[in-house]
Amino acid sequence: MHDFKFKNGELYCESVRVSTIAKKVGTPFYLYSHHTLVDHFTKIKKAFAPVDPLICFAMKSNDNLAVLKTLADQGAGFDIVSVGELKKARMINADPQKIVFASVGKTEEEIAGAMKANILFFNAESLPELDEINRIAKKLKKRPKVALRINPDVEAATHARTTTGTLKNKFGIDLRAAREIMKTRKKYSYIRFSGLHVHIGSQIIASTPFINALKRVIEFVDVLRKDGIDLEYLDIGGGLGIIYKDEKPQTAQDFANAILPNLKRTGLKIVMEPGRFIAGNAGIFVTKALYLKDNGVKKFLIVDGGMNDLVRPSMYDAYHEIVPLKKTSAKKTKMDIVGPICESGDFFAKDRMFPILKKGDLLAIMSAGAYGYVMSSNYNVRGRGPEVIVKGNKYAVTKPRETFKDLVRGESIPDFL
Ligand code: LLP
Repeated sequence: MHDFKFKNGELYCESVRVSTIAKKVGTPFYLYSHHTLVDHFTKIKKAFAPVDPLICFAMKSNDNLAVLKTLADQGAGFDIVSVGELKKARMINADPQKIVFASVGKTEEEIAGAMKANILFFNAESLPELDEINRIAKKLKKRPKVALRINPDVEAATHARTTTGTLKNKFGIDLRAAREIMKTRKKYSYIRFSGLHVHIGSQIIASTPFINALKRVIEFVDVLRKDGIDLEYLDIGGGLGIIYKDEKPQTAQDFANAILPNLKRTGLKIVMEPGRFIAGNAGIFVTKALYLKDNGVKKFLIVDGGMNDLVRPSMYDAYHEIVPLKKTSAKKTKMDIVGPICESGDFFAKDRMFPILKKGDLLAIMSAGAYGYVMSSNYNVRGRGPEVIVKGNKYAVTKPRETFKDLVRGESIPDFL
C-alpha cells in the first residue's frame, strides 16, 4: 500500500529512517516516497490497460517538482488548473500534448498561455468561457481542442466541500446546455470540440456515484453521435478515495472492472485525472512534540507543525492517522494533537488515544501527500518546512524550508505612511 513502515520499532520511508531525515532537515517537513508514487501510478495504469488511458496526474494535489518528474517519467501527463501549474509542468519538460486544463475561472492570460504552450485540450466549464476561448484563439490564430466539462447532477457522497458534480456546485455545464452548445458549435469557429469531461468530486469511496455519472455522460456521447457529432476524448476526471482510517474504498481494479466495458464501448480515447490516489498515501508530514498541556478537562499535545502546514483536519474535519516515529510503550491517553497557531481550529486530531510523548519526540501525520503542502500558507508569519523525497536509500530536500527573508520578499512600506 505504501512504503512508510516500522522496522525495529522505528518508522522508515523505503530504506531511510525518517528520524535521520528529521535530524538533518529539522521539523516540521513533508516527506514523499518515490516508490509509492510509482506503485500507485502503476496500479491505475495496469487496471485500465485495456483502454490505454492518458493518466493526467491532478497536480493540484501535489505540485512538487520531484513528484511531477517521478510521474512524468512513468508516462503521466498532468491535469492543471492555473498558469502557475502549467509553468511548473514545463519546468520538468512535461509533454504539453499530455496536459489538460480545467478551471471555472480561466483568465485571458491563462487561456492564451495554455494555447501558446499547445496543450492537449481545455476542459471548458461555461458558455462565456467558450466565447473567451474562441475569441483568444482567433486572436492567436490557433484552433484549440476543447472538451465540455459536463455537470451530470450526481451526488458524490463525499465531503460537501469536495463534491463538484451537482447543479448546486459551480462546476461544469448541465446536459441540456451542453447539447445546445454542441448543436450551435459552428459559431465557435476557432474551437475544435473534441471531447467530454466529468469530475464529480474527491475522496469518493463507493463506485455507484462514478458509475451513475459516467452513464449519463456516455449516454450523452450516444446522443451527440445521433446528432452527427463525433468526439475524440472522454476525460473521466479523478476522485478515487484512499484509506485514511478504516475506509474501504474501491481499488483501482474494482473501479476499472465496473466501468471498463462502458468506456470501451464509446471507442473514445480515455483520459483520467487522479490526484489523491497517487499522492495521498505517498507522503507524510513530520512534526515534533513541544509541550503536553493538561487543563484538568482536556489534554493537548502541542506540536511544531500547524494548520498553516496541513489544513485538512481543520478545513474538512479530515482524519489523519498519527504515529510516533519511534514505537513506544508509553501510556496512551485521550488528547487533542494541536499546532501553535492562534485558532481553535488548529488541530490534527481530536480526542485521540495517543501515547504520552516527551518534548522533542517526533510524530508522523500519515497520508499527507495529497492536498498537504499545496494548501499550506504563511499564516502567523510561519515559513513552510521543506519537502523531502526518498528513493530507496537516498533522500534529498526538493524544496527548502522558507526563511524569514522569503516571507517578506517584496514587501515595503509606502512613502505616504
Ligand atoms: N480533476 C479535477 C477537475 C479536479 O477538480 C480534481 C480535484 C481532480 C481531478 C483530482 O481529484 P482527486 O483524484 O485528487 O480526488 N482539497 C481537498 C480536495 C479537493 C479536490 C479538488 N479537485 C481535500 O484535501 O480533500
